[in-house]
Amino acid sequence: EKIALAYSGGLDTSVMIKWLKDKYDAEIVAVTGNLGQQKEIENLESKAYSTGASAFRFVDLRKTFVEEYIWRALKAGALYEDVYPLATALGRPLLAKALVDAALEEDCTMLAHGCTGKGNDQVRFEVTFAALAPHLKILAPLREWEFTSREAEIAYALEHNIPVSATKKSPYSIDENIWGISIECGVLEDPMVTPPEDAYQITTSPENAPDTPSAVEIEFVEGIPVALDGERMSGLDMIQKLNDIGAANGIGRLDMIENRVVGIKSREIYEAPAATILHFAHRELERLTLEKTVFQYKKNISQDYANIIYNGTWFSPIRKALDAFVDETQKPVTGMVRLKLYKGGVSLLGRNSPNSLYNEELATYTEADTFNHKAAAGFIHLYGLGMKTFSQVNPGL
Ligand code: ARG
Ligand code: SIN
Repeated sequence: EKIALAYSGGLDTSVMIKWLKDKYDAEIVAVTGNLGQQKEIENLESKAYSTGASAFRFVDLRKTFVEEYIWRALKAGALYEDVYPLATALGRPLLAKALVDAALEEDCTMLAHGCTGKGNDQVRFEVTFAALAPHLKILAPLREWEFTSREAEIAYALEHNIPVSATKKSPYSIDENIWGISIECGVLEDPMVTPPEDAYQITTSPENAPDTPSAVEIEFVEGIPVALDGERMSGLDMIQKLNDIGAANGIGRLDMIENRVVGIKSREIYEAPAATILHFAHRELERLTLEKTVFQYKKNISQDYANIIYNGTWFSPIRKALDAFVDETQKPVTGMVRLKLYKGGVSLLGRNSPNSLYNEELATYTEADTFNHKAAAGFIHLYGLGMKTFSQVNPGL
């Protein structure tokens, strides 16, 4: 039998190769996805083989991640509980799909992942497995195995000649992709503790950011960012550039208590410079281009869409149905937003759009005004009629 394992090269999934081989008398196909993480991905292949895998696959998911996942989330305005741009959560269904694809090609009968039993990630992986390949058996060794500490895993690794990386273990648990970094554990578990500087992986602190602001100009077509400072570029390049310039200006640090799928609250630190900048810019362009009822209704969609991503139900009919709403309503969201990035803050310098609904002749208080002031009187009379009638009938209520 063969098991496809979502492999990161860290201690857990390294120990897991040997543990799964022994327990199921199976061959292990280790699968790693590239979602744009900076972390060393060279040596992963030789590491997987020397740890006992019989096959290794490295799948470049970056383009799909940006175009089919990140851009959808951006267009939907998906921020979990109004804060988290969902980097980890968006990556999971795509990684899970890549694992399923590899499993089917390699004739595996089981799928394994290295998520803990109290997190969201196990839910996201397994709900996706069930939707895409319901016949495959799911294994979650972290929920079952005998190791209760990192030391126990290291002892097992040494005993079985599993190479454990010499680099010192970070005091935090870090998950990273191009849309953002999630940081938890260690001193961060106390919500009163201010995150130490070393918790942040890419951002400069606002205090140490440059004293002169940076300006960026982002152009959108139908809700999708297509050009930065006048230069058309791929989504991947755009996100990378905005991560760099945002990080240098201290942008995108988030400190959040969030509600997990499994019922607990957890404290998370996020770094998401590009996501912070792009969500801000996109929202400002929507203010200019969306019709009032659509603009106001959109926040329900944004919240529902964020919950779907967070809760792991990406491959659901409801997500596709919401995409249809989003794609239809994003049609006029074309234009340009100019932003200032300065010491941790993103602010607006200006915006324009060929589809702008802002009409200066209607809005102006100068001679050029074309608004019909007299029409307002009749409008207000009828608009307030219900309230007026109620208070006449119910004086004092
Ligand atoms: N709380 C975040 C989420 O659920 C981040 C999870 C981080 N995952 C990890 N394996 N460190 O999306
Ligand atoms: C994990 O359990 O693997 C990380 C935390 C989470 O999924 O929320």
